[in-house]
Amino acid sequence: MGNDAEVRRLDLTDLGACLDLGADRGWPREEHKWRLLFRVGQVHGVDDPRGGLIAVVVGTPYGGSVNAISMMLVATEHARRGFGARVLGETLARVGAPTALLTATPMGRPLYLSMGFRVVGRTSTYVGVPRGVVPAGVSRPATAADVEAVIALDNTVFGAPRAELMAALPGFCDQFRVVEDCGVVAFGGAWPNIDQTVLGPVTAPDTATGLALLSDLAAAAPGVVRVDVDHRQPEVMAWARSHGLEHRFDTDIMLLGPDFPFDATRSITPVMLALG
Ligand SMILES: CC(C)(COP(=O)(O)OP(=O)(O)OC[C@H]1O[C@@H](n2cnc3c(N)ncnc32)[C@H](O)[C@@H]1OP(=O)(O)O)[C@@H](O)C(=O)NCCC(=O)NCCS
Repeated sequence: MGNDAEVRRLDLTDLGACLDLGADRGWPREEHKWRLLFRVGQVHGVDDPRGGLIAVVVGTPYGGSVNAISMMLVATEHARRGFGARVLGETLARVGAPTALLTATPMGRPLYLSMGFRVVGRTSTYVGVPRGVVPAGVSRPATAADVEAVIALDNTVFGAPRAELMAALPGFCDQFRVVEDCGVVAFGGAWPNIDQTVLGPVTAPDTATGLALLSDLAAAAPGVVRVDVDHRQPEVMAWARSHGLEHRFDTDIMLLGPDFPFDATRSITPVMLALG
């Protein structure tokens, strides 16, 4: 049924329908996050003739080499009729990047496996009011003059160009900070998501500097924080646990197509699971 459904490029006028579709699957109404995804990504969906959306997915292109897939949703009443495969397949084709990257919930995993994605890693999400965080004082607020250096550093560490995303982050985040040592060597952000502050991205030359920057960000964040941690960063998981954050859920990191030169040692936390 979904195999030949028309897939439409959505715009901000569809934001409410995207939030409604997420709510149908028990996802929180993350409007601030969706607005960023509409800005830097391509949102595709299938209309429900009765109003609203049957399916949606976001593909965010990074310089023609990587496509970050997120917000894969199909309305409960239309499940297992091919709509997920249809809208995802169309988005992969339209974005056209050789590599697609995503983090999969247990529910999404079978769909991605059926489309050729492979599991390359795992993340854990920790949430809570941090206890005993002492700011390390290693960082200062970023200014407009730091943006070029942040874009260049992110390019080296992430392994694909994300200039548009990096340029959007200072406005998207509550805090956006840099560490200097003869130039910008690390950057970190914290952004508001409904009733939480997400700590990320944090990119640093080593884990010690990354944890110091994470502490600067966490110490200034109000109330509940969330941090998504790649399992290749065990010291960051230990930091989260030692400050009283609780493990909430895991996702699989999945790739379709060739590997790309992502540096897991210097990527301390992602921007968000949706964007890597
Ligand atoms: C994941 C989701 C998008 C799948 O959408 P869908 O339209 O039901 O998927 P499709 O019908 O296109 O499935 C395509 C193929 O994927 C696999 N698949 C999809 N859902 C599956 C499931 N629950 N169990 C096993 N295999 C599944 C099958 O191979 C399926 O082909 P088949 O039905 O011919 O066997 C939908 O279940 C959903 O919105 N879940 C809630 C939100 C979520 O977790 N999204 C993933 C975020 S990472």
